[in-house]
Order: sequence, then structure tokens, then C-alpha cells
Amino acid sequence: MPKIRFTNDGKEVVVAEGLSILEAARECDAQVGSACGGNLACSTCHVWVKKGFDSLSDMEDGEDDILDKAFDVRPYSRLGCQARVAGEDVDVEITRESRQAFLDEHPAERVKAS
Ligand code: FES
Repeated sequence: MPKIRFTNDGKEVVVAEGLSILEAARECDAQVGSACGGNLACSTCHVWVKKGFDSLSDMEDGEDDILDKAFDVRPYSRLGCQARVAGEDVDVEITRESRQAFLDEHPAERVKAS
């Protein structure tokens, strides 16, 4: 089973194939934002995939459209709620935008982080 590692907070989790990066983040308490609850209506789950990018599920048009609204989009950007893991390990860097959204959604975590 693939291991997802969130490089900027050192958290990792082994997950079943088909789980999204956002679901993996929730499994290990990594700070990936999800203002719309994973319904492809924001861009707060924007992450950079540093390893295993090509192994992820293909990007659909809707994800591409929403990703256009994100900050600092890179060739290895994905929306955490849409990108699903397959058989390979994946390294993910949480974008500043996504971490800020997470902290806005979880005020208690924001206090701990300050
Ligand atoms: S959580 Fe809103 S698009 Fe992913």
C-alpha cells in the first residue's frame, strides 16, 4: 500500500489505493485546508506533489479549472481532494495557502502554531 508523506510537517500515513491526498492528510492530521469540504469549489487543498506525481489519478477538467484560482500554481500542483493515490509512495508539500486555510478552519491549531 502506498505511503503519503507530508514533507513540511513530517507526517506520513500508509493508505489504501484510491484514497485522495486530502483524505490521507486527515488520517495523519496533516494541515491541508478544505474550505469546501472536498467538493471542488475552492482551491484551499492545493498541494505540490514532489514525488509520485505521475502515479496519481488523472486531472479532470474541473480540477484544472479550480486550480487556476490557486496561488503559485506549479507544474506539479494538484488539488488534494481530487488527486487519488495508486500504488506508489507520494511526497506532498502543503502550500502556504492550504496551510493558512487549515488554520483558519481550526482555530485551536492556529493558537498552537503561533
Ligand atoms: S477542498 Fe475545496 S477544492 Fe478541494
